[in-house]
Amino acid sequence: MRIIIDDIPELGRFAVDLIAEQISYRPDCTIGLATGSSPLPIYHELAARVARGELDLSQVQFFALDEYAGLGGDHPMSYRFFLDEHVVGPCGLDPAQLRTLNGRAEDLAQECRDYEDAIAEAGGIDLQILGIGHNGHLAFNEPTSSFGSRTRVVALTPQTVDANARFFDDDPEDVPLLALSQGIGTILEAGALILIATGGGKAPAIHSAIEGELTSSVPASALQLHRQTTFLVDAPAGSML
Ligand code: GLP
Repeated sequence: MRIIIDDIPELGRFAVDLIAEQISYRPDCTIGLATGSSPLPIYHELAARVARGELDLSQVQFFALDEYAGLGGDHPMSYRFFLDEHVVGPCGLDPAQLRTLNGRAEDLAQECRDYEDAIAEAGGIDLQILGIGHNGHLAFNEPTSSFGSRTRVVALTPQTVDANARFFDDDPEDVPLLALSQGIGTILEAGALILIATGGGKAPAIHSAIEGELTSSVPASALQLHRQTTFLVDAPAGSML
């Protein structure tokens, strides 16, 4: 495990250095993308390097981590929409380079199984970008999710619904209660993991994930089991370490 504590733009640069290194080994590598506000510095830096002609993403295959159930990719609050807006467009990707879970699939369980198959067919995820929830959740794997879990339909905790209401005009009533999420087992199979967290509100979760016991009560503590995890935190998020 590696822990980098730095200011936010520097964290973004560090992450994109790791992405660039991965692409230099294998231009057709597979990268997993998280949503939320935390990874935005990474995506800004990624787009800036593409614009400067320093990075070629044309052969990279991207997979999203999770999606709200019931929202299609054209819904402004869907994670597909978010990633189109912050990664696909700014980085000039072909939309087909990003595979996302379809929250409006008729059979959500089948959609999750198909997603696992698609990741396997792509040869697995080489590098996965992650955020962390205030309760230590990873993707939408809430506390008590099994460390062996796979992509599946999950229920969101009231705390996560509240935390994500800020994206839904602050109305928790509008936040879907179910989501589709890569499992912790799926995430742990990625070749390398980068978790980014910023702000003092994430300090307890970062402390528990890194220095707490290995427990399904803190899904992100599962990252202690991975051989190549990099935690990128700013000083407030790292203040309890
Ligand atoms: C959501 C996402 C997670 C993300 C978390 C934190 O619950 N499913 O993948 O890590 O929010 O988001 P933020 O970075 O905005 O705090």
